[in-house]
Amino acid sequence: MKIGIYGGSFNPPHLGHLAAARAAAALLELDRLVFVPAGVPPHKELPPGTPTRDQRLAMISIAADQLLMPEVTGVWDTELHREGRSYTADTLAEAARQWPGAELWLLMGTDMFLTVHQWREPEKILSLANVCAFGRSTADSEAVFAPQRDHLSRAYGAKITTVSIPDLVEISSTRLRELIGRGEGREFLPQAVYGYILREKLYGTNADLKRLSMEDLRCVSYSMVQARRLAHIRGTEETAARLALRWGADEDRMRRAAILHDCTKYLSHEEHLAICDQYGVALDPLERATDKLLHAKSGAALAKYVFGMDDVYDAVLYHTTARAGMSLEEKILYTADYMEPNRDFPEVEELRRLADSDLDKAVGMGARLAMEEMVQRDKELHHDTRGAYECYGKGI
Ligand SMILES: [Fe+2]
Ligand SMILES: [Fe+2]
Repeated sequence: MKIGIYGGSFNPPHLGHLAAARAAAALLELDRLVFVPAGVPPHKELPPGTPTRDQRLAMISIAADQLLMPEVTGVWDTELHREGRSYTADTLAEAARQWPGAELWLLMGTDMFLTVHQWREPEKILSLANVCAFGRSTADSEAVFAPQRDHLSRAYGAKITTVSIPDLVEISSTRLRELIGRGEGREFLPQAVYGYILREKLYGTNADLKRLSMEDLRCVSYSMVQARRLAHIRGTEETAARLALRWGADEDRMRRAAILHDCTKYLSHEEHLAICDQYGVALDPLERATDKLLHAKSGAALAKYVFGMDDVYDAVLYHTTARAGMSLEEKILYTADYMEPNRDFPEVEELRRLADSDLDKAVGMGARLAMEEMVQRDKELHHDTRGAYECYGKGI
C-alpha cells in the first residue's frame, strides 16, 4: 500500500496543488493520497476574512473532491487537532502507526524540498517516508533538484523522486489571497473552492449572495455539492439553455434555475427539513419522508430566500415530481434534468427528440417513466407526478 502525504496550509487550496497531487498520484501509483492541512499557531490578531480551522478543512475537502478519485484522495486533519506547533516528523510517525506497513511518500514543492534537511528531525522524516518533490515552475529544473537529491540520499539514505507537473499552475497562496481580496484570481481556483470563499466571505470578499453574477452563482452552487454531480448540473444547464431558445423562455433565467436545481442534493434529511421549516415550504407526508423529493423543496427555498431568485422558485420546486399545469420554465427544467447528455437509459433518445418537437409530450413521457420506475421499485408515487402524467402523458 502506497500512501502519499501532502501537507500544506492550503490557504486557499488552488489548481497548482491539485495538478501536483494528480501528477504525483499517477507517477507513484498511490493507493491513497491524503492532504494534511497544517495547524496554524493561534494568533492574537488575524485580519478579517482569515479562514477558521473548520473553513480551511472545508476548503481542502472540497478541493480534494474535485480530483474525482474518492477511493484515493482524502483529507487527514491530524495537524489541525494537535496542540502547539505541528512537525512533519510527528505527522509521519502517526501515519506509520495509522497505516502500519504502508510505503509512505511525502509530497512537497521545490521550496520545501530544498530546505527539508533543516526541518526538525530530518533523519526521522526521511527514514519514515520517501520524498516526491515537484517543480512549481519551469525554472525548477533538474539542475536545482539534483544537488539536494544527492545530498539527502548520501546523508540520510533517502529515496527521492522528482515530478514535473504537466498542467502547471504558477501561483502562491500568498499572492492568491491578495488577488482574491481584489476580486481577482478565480482562474487559479477550482470553481467550487472559489464558491466556498464567496459563500463564507473569506479573504476580503464580501459577496452579496442575492446579487451574484451567473459565474459566481455557478461557483457557489458547485461548492455545495459533490464534484461527481457537476457534470450533471452543467449538462442540465446547457440543455435548459438550449430548450429555452427552442421554446422561447428566458435563457438567463433557465440557466440560473439549472445551476441551482440540485444545490441541496447532499444535505442530510434533517438539514432539508430545517430549511423547509425555516422558509415555510409546505411538505406533504411523502415529501417529508423522502430525501429525493425533499432536495427540490429545500433547493427552491435557497434559490428564493438565500440567492434572491424568486423567478426560478417553481421550476426548482417541481423539478423532481413535475405536476399538472406546469409553466414553460417548469417544463424546461424538468425535461432538461431528465435528458441532459450524461443521462443514459433506453428511452432517452426518444425523450430528447420529443423535447425538441413537443415539450408537453416530453414532460408526459418523463412522468410516465417516473411512474414506471416507482412501480418497479415498489415505491409510493407522488400525487404531483400522477397529476403531470394525467395532464401531459396520455398516449405517450
Ligand atoms: Fe434533482
Ligand atoms: Fe438534477
